[in-house]
Parts: sequence; C-alpha cells; structure tokens
Amino acid sequence: MTGPLLASGREADVYALDDRRVLRRYRREADVTGEVAAMRYLAGLGYPVPAVYEAAGPDMVMERLDGPTMAEAFGTGALGIEEGAAGLADLLRELHELPPWPGAAAGSRILHLDLHPENVIMSSRGPVVIDWCNARAGDPDLDTGLTALILAQVAADPEHAQAGPAELALTAFLRRAPGAPTRLLDEVVRFRDRQLDGTEPLDRAAEKVLSCAR
Ligand SMILES: Nc1ncnc2c1ncn2[C@@H]1O[C@H](COP(=O)(O)OP(=O)(O)O)[C@@H](O)[C@H]1O
Ligand SMILES: [Mg+2]
Repeated sequence: MTGPLLASGREADVYALDDRRVLRRYRREADVTGEVAAMRYLAGLGYPVPAVYEAAGPDMVMERLDGPTMAEAFGTGALGIEEGAAGLADLLRELHELPPWPGAAAGSRILHLDLHPENVIMSSRGPVVIDWCNARAGDPDLDTGLTALILAQVAADPEHAQAGPAELALTAFLRRAPGAPTRLLDEVVRFRDRQLDGTEPLDRAAEKVLSCAR
C-alpha cells in the first residue's frame, strides 16, 4: 500500500507513506542497489542526502524531506537566483572533496551527474541532494559542466519563461563553481545527449555555457 502521490520526476514517482517516509518508485524496470549504496556511503560521510530505510528492485523507502525543491523555491521567490546557484556550486564542491568509495579509480571523485534545481530539496535541515541514479566515480569537471549545461538548456531557449533567471543562475554558478566547468564540455554534451536520447539539440546550450563563463 502506498500513500498519496507527492511528486513525479522524469523517471520516478514519489508517494507519501507517512509524515516521515516516502516511497520512490521507478516507472521503468530498475535495480536501485547501486544508487542506494552511493547514498548510504555519502550519508556516512555527512553529505546531505535522504536517509534510505529499505530498498528492493525499483523501490526505495527513504526519509521524507519537508521543503520545496530549489526550482520551486526560485519560482515562489523564497530563494534568490544567485544565492541558489551559489548553493548548487557549493554542493558540488563539497561532494567533490569527499574520498570516493573503495575500488574507485585513483584520482577520481564521486559525481552526481544530474545536480540541478529540481534535484535539491530545501529542507529544514538545509539543502539535500536527491536522485542519485547517475552517481559514479569520475572527473569532477564532468559534474560541474553538466550542471552548467542543464542550466544553459533553459537559458538558451528563448521560448522558455525562465530563460532570463536561468541565465542569471548559470552566470552565478560558473562564478562560484569548483574546478574547470568548461574543460570537458564536449564530453558533457555527449553525456547529456545520451541521457536525453537525442531529443533536444544542445549546441546553443553549449555556446551559452561558454559565453556565460567569459
Ligand atoms: N525524499 C524525498 N522527500 C520528499 N520529496 C521527495 C523526496 N525525493 C523526491 N521527492 C520529490 O519527488 C520528485 C522526483 O524525485 P527524483 O528522485 O528527483 O526522481 P526523478 O528521477 O523522476 O527526477 C522530486 O523533485 C521531489 O519533488
Ligand atoms: Mg529528479
């Protein structure tokens, strides 16, 4: 038995179980084992992720976070664009400073690879990062470049109502981001293109990243 549907993302539905716990269920066949191992590892290092209580197949029972997503907080004006963008950069910096799990390639770092305003919940215990399905060890510039490209997809779309705020966010993010967010941009574009199954052109977004980084 699940409770009421709280939210749906691109891949999963999230149901309330009670006021402390949610069930996150993939709409596709999935095995959350790797994702949950990453979340538990990060929680053990004090990184802000939801606590996971149970996991099986496409299902995960986890801590229910009590705030809006960063995207929702931008929308209501509860959070300033530049402050939020700086927060994204800080979350990536803190993540990339952590020691990767045993067995990860030498010099690699833990990457989220989808860290954008819809995957951060502004909870009463501070910003918490959700949606770890892409997490792996690798080059941190891939992670910061991907966050920049995702913000740029909105900023570079003249039809999008949030294009202006997204450009502000992108500029503030690039000013504060760790590492070199444009260094692996070609690889970042290929990764994002695979993630979106080639459904959206990314050339204008990539140009936007470069122009806002100047
Ligand atoms: N632990 C949680 N507590 C409360 N709401 C959550 C939690 N995890 C996810 N959500 C809500 O569900 C939405 C989708 O979850 P997410 O893990 O990002 O799935 P997707 O892969 O589909 O994007 C989030 O944007 C958020 O609104
Ligand atoms: Mg998500």
